[in-house]
Amino acid sequence: MQQITDRKWWQEGIVYQIYPRSFQDTTQNGIGDLQGVIKRLDYIKSLGVDIIWLNPVYESPNDDNGYDISDYRKIMPEFGTMADFDLLLQGMKERGLKLVMDLVVNHTSDEHQWFEASRQSRDNPYRDYYHWWPAEKGTPPKRWSYFDVDGTAWKYDEKTDAYYLHYFSVKQPDLNWENPKVREEIQDIMKFWFDKGVDGFRMDVISFISKDTDFPELPKKYEGDFVPFYSEGPKLHEYLNELHQKVLSKYDVMTVGEAPGIGLDKALDFVDAERGELNMFFHFDLMSLDREANEVFLMRKSPWKLSEFKKVHSAWDKVFAEKGWGSMYLNNHDFPRSVSRWGNDSVSHWYNSATMLHTFLLTMRGTPYFYYGEEIGMTNIKFDAISEYRDINTINRYEIIQKEGGDLDAFIENEKSASRDNARTPMQWDATAHSGFSKERPWLKVNDNYQEGINVAAQEADRLSVLHYFRKMVQVRKSNPALIHGDYELLRPEHEEIYAYTRTLGQDRFLVLLSFSTERAKINLDMVAFDTATAIISNASEAEQHQGKTFELVPYQATVYRLR
Ligand code: GLC
Repeated sequence: MQQITDRKWWQEGIVYQIYPRSFQDTTQNGIGDLQGVIKRLDYIKSLGVDIIWLNPVYESPNDDNGYDISDYRKIMPEFGTMADFDLLLQGMKERGLKLVMDLVVNHTSDEHQWFEASRQSRDNPYRDYYHWWPAEKGTPPKRWSYFDVDGTAWKYDEKTDAYYLHYFSVKQPDLNWENPKVREEIQDIMKFWFDKGVDGFRMDVISFISKDTDFPELPKKYEGDFVPFYSEGPKLHEYLNELHQKVLSKYDVMTVGEAPGIGLDKALDFVDAERGELNMFFHFDLMSLDREANEVFLMRKSPWKLSEFKKVHSAWDKVFAEKGWGSMYLNNHDFPRSVSRWGNDSVSHWYNSATMLHTFLLTMRGTPYFYYGEEIGMTNIKFDAISEYRDINTINRYEIIQKEGGDLDAFIENEKSASRDNARTPMQWDATAHSGFSKERPWLKVNDNYQEGINVAAQEADRLSVLHYFRKMVQVRKSNPALIHGDYELLRPEHEEIYAYTRTLGQDRFLVLLSFSTERAKINLDMVAFDTATAIISNASEAEQHQGKTFELVPYQATVYRLR
């Protein structure tokens, strides 16, 4: 167990992630905005969460919805102005809420003035802000790109007869961190926002920032899977350490890195406090559990197993048991809705599975991250036609399959479970047109189930709603430090229907039972020493029966017991 004196606000806080484009539109253009977030601050506060993580709000041509930044110090006009931002921050401070911004510095937009200068001539002072491969050296060694329709991360640029590197879309050129000027620019950007009073950064694909700039041919062992190669850049830790020393250590802020490719063996290199790098990071082991190997966007043919789900979480808990700190999430703007993915969004199991997943996230060690709408159990939209999609990832992959003459129906079927747009549909505030998100047609379709009780207003009025359960469960976590800091012990790892574990801190001991089954399920816990098990919260209406140490759970039941 970690020392009590080491406890930090970002360990005890609960994060609420907002995708601003989809949260609340106040200008009636079908796009959410900062005034919309301001309008909903009391609601956010009422959830009991402490920290808001805002997806990018900077000026951007929106090739990848703000992850392609053209000016790091300006607000995207669609979202409002810097004055709106300042008001938002002020409103948050007044309510005791902290603000974490998205820092996207692996790449910029190709419309950023640095890149516009860089591509002008080979001797432009900004040339070395990016990675260029002169065409006279031949075709550059293969690099894979997430969003490119030709499947390559090198884009030929006629003006200077050279290729530039882009791990994401052609409009997202990668920055050259080797260049000390680039690193200074990034430090200045961070200071700019910290000096405004921002409380931290979620650092986009931070594991990709360092590249071997000789650009060797890809070593054999990485063929078919570029991600680990991209996340093993030679100077990654040097750069993170420098950011910490020069900027982060000077403020009381939090950092959470997005770290594709980083496995258990490397975890502490990032978050062991003594190393001075990051506070937390998002690993991808859970996000790849229901995907084909090395295919982050392709659903796995065989269903995922609960024993595998437990294994991922137990291993990650263990790695941070003594040092470092974990982050817990079940969905975000890049992955489908948690209840549709890890629970069951059918009418009969939706309530129980949504609340069961809340119970899970709020009884695990590590900072919990909730994604807007998760508190009311928003579900995947499962679009039937490519014309409904807005995400560059789905649209470009469709184009590739079309070019190759592949199976487009199978692709659309896959996207119903995998597409990022499932998680980006507008927030469901009430049962009025467009779910109270906007008076105009939203940029992305609203899920029709806002008319069937999946909206905030309906759930506010119903004491037995997913929303009320969420608030109650938040309070259970906050009033029991054992649920935040206590030791985690997995029970019956092989059980494929029930996830059972204890959390223990000193004399306080809790037993968490979660059913992931559509049938009633039993579990025997003879190995746990206790005389009484008193339920402190449950999503089941009847008191669940247990005789001695055998518990029987209704489908997707979640119950937390205090043990004596
Ligand atoms: C991260 C973001 C994702 C974005 C990508 C490129 O994975 O979460 O939304 O598309 O980086 O910036």
